[in-house]
Amino acid sequence: MCGIVGYVGPKEAQPILIDCLKRLEYRGYDSAGIAIGGDEINVYKTEGEIAVLEAGMPQMPGVVGIAHTRWATQGRPTTENAHPFQGCEKGVAVVHNGIISNFMELRESLAGDGHNFSSETDTEVFAHLVEAELKEDSDLLETVRIALKRVEGTYAFAVVAPGRPEVVAARNESPLVIGVGNGENFLASDVTALLKYTNRIIYVQDGETVRITKDSVTIMDADGAEVKRAPERIAWSLEDAEKGGYPHFMLKEIFEQPAAIHDSFLGRIDAVEGDEPFLDGGSFSSVKIVACGTSYNAGLVGKYIIEELARVPVTVQISSEYRYSAAARENPLVVLITQSGETLDTIAAAREATKRGNRTLAIVNVTGSAITREVDHVIYTRAGPEIGVAATKTFVTQLVALYLLAIELGTMGRTLTAQAKRSIVGQLRNLPRSVQDVLNQAGTIEAMAQKYSGARDMFFIGRNLQYPIAMEGALKTKEISYIHGEGYPAGELKHGPLALLSKDTPVVAIVTNDRTYEKMIANISEVSARGSPVIAIADANDTEIIKYADDVIFLRETPSLFSPVPVIVALQLWAYHLAKARGCPIDKPRNIAKTVTVE
Ligand code: G6P
Repeated sequence: MCGIVGYVGPKEAQPILIDCLKRLEYRGYDSAGIAIGGDEINVYKTEGEIAVLEAGMPQMPGVVGIAHTRWATQGRPTTENAHPFQGCEKGVAVVHNGIISNFMELRESLAGDGHNFSSETDTEVFAHLVEAELKEDSDLLETVRIALKRVEGTYAFAVVAPGRPEVVAARNESPLVIGVGNGENFLASDVTALLKYTNRIIYVQDGETVRITKDSVTIMDADGAEVKRAPERIAWSLEDAEKGGYPHFMLKEIFEQPAAIHDSFLGRIDAVEGDEPFLDGGSFSSVKIVACGTSYNAGLVGKYIIEELARVPVTVQISSEYRYSAAARENPLVVLITQSGETLDTIAAAREATKRGNRTLAIVNVTGSAITREVDHVIYTRAGPEIGVAATKTFVTQLVALYLLAIELGTMGRTLTAQAKRSIVGQLRNLPRSVQDVLNQAGTIEAMAQKYSGARDMFFIGRNLQYPIAMEGALKTKEISYIHGEGYPAGELKHGPLALLSKDTPVVAIVTNDRTYEKMIANISEVSARGSPVIAIADANDTEIIKYADDVIFLRETPSLFSPVPVIVALQLWAYHLAKARGCPIDKPRNIAKTVTVE
């Protein structure tokens, strides 16, 4: 995820672009840059936050420009990899949000034609593609459309070219809006960036290419036909807008999950097909997953996924415990999961694993974070910045990374046939849709959560893969709603916790359709017999469940290996609405922090 802005008008573009860009810093902040147009295009960019860019840049006169704040996905967060990119010095400049999945192929072909590249990024190839197509008398919008025909992936691009008082932009699955002003026009990744200047907004749609000049807006659809779309008036305050109109970052991040999941596997399916493996050979007898908090719960789900697909034994340990445990006689691949990449306990565990001579792999969201320098291999989850303290989209993308890793291990160990792999990859591709289905039910989940929001204690039960999801549901609930939530394997209730159940302790039971279904029904009957209300999460085609539960959240049936993903999204919404009904400070719960750098 990155933020882009563009401006054409009568005023100096530089201060306006920087001002707008600052409002997009929540989309990424590892490097930033600006390009100002005129007879030639001048670019200034740097590693670090927008404040670093602002402090270092020279005055750049001109009334046309684009700017970018980056959240690195392809290539490290360095000055060389910062946007904008130019096809040649002082030439066409491009900023991009998204991922060009066929960039290696394009890069090779352009290099063959004599183009030189200065960065590790996918975006740079687009600057060269436009440069290669642009002739003195050609139309920039048309040229961008021609260049886009060769691009696969997701994008919002903005482009400026020498001697042209216009910004051209295009969108495919990455957000892009036009701000319509008086004698000036704007482009941005979202409305937030522009509200100080205008509240008249046109939402650009997928497949569209647009041009803004100081007094015109042109929109072309994918077939090259002109589209007329009037601006909408936005009634948000600046603060609302930063959250994209959501009352909390957590809710916004919950709703970003279909896109985050999509981004996290985009271009990677080929990797697991063998072209670009995460691990380059080497042998290990087992996998040991080490993590804290929500990342630990992802690791627990990972155990089931890897054992199922790759038949490799997996143990999961809390980082602060691993460090002080004895090294057993084994040679595991140590997988460290951490969204921030800065959790000290997990970094210390990575060092300990290296000391023990084990190969290490980190699953991490923040590019260039501390842990990436401690391990042999990295899988980035590409969820974009997560601001709410309670992890949501970083958790589901950690699961995606674990599916991909399991597929690779299954392929290496020959436990997965090519046909089984194809079917699993197909199911993975369906995940954004099943998550969207859950989000469409947010209203129902809210009403149900309100009903139970007075509880002091709550149990969450599941079996098999859904047991760690019950733990994660309980963790989300306690972190943000301050209700004491306890996650249990359903079969363990009778070994203690049943003593605590009464009509005042609701039990959330994950009863999706898998081989543990009958056992789960027996468990919830035990619970009901103690008078506890049962809230079941079940498949949409389950007609029996209503006999056993007081309330049911129905989800579209998903193959059992993948159903943890939609189920956790339902539980995130559940925890969120419990917290909201109780008036809790959802994005910043008491006593806990997003990144924990103490042991
Ligand atoms: C803190 C956060 C949790 C997070 C945990 C691990 O406790 O509040 O939400 O799961 O750290 O963080 P990491 O960055 O290593 O995933």
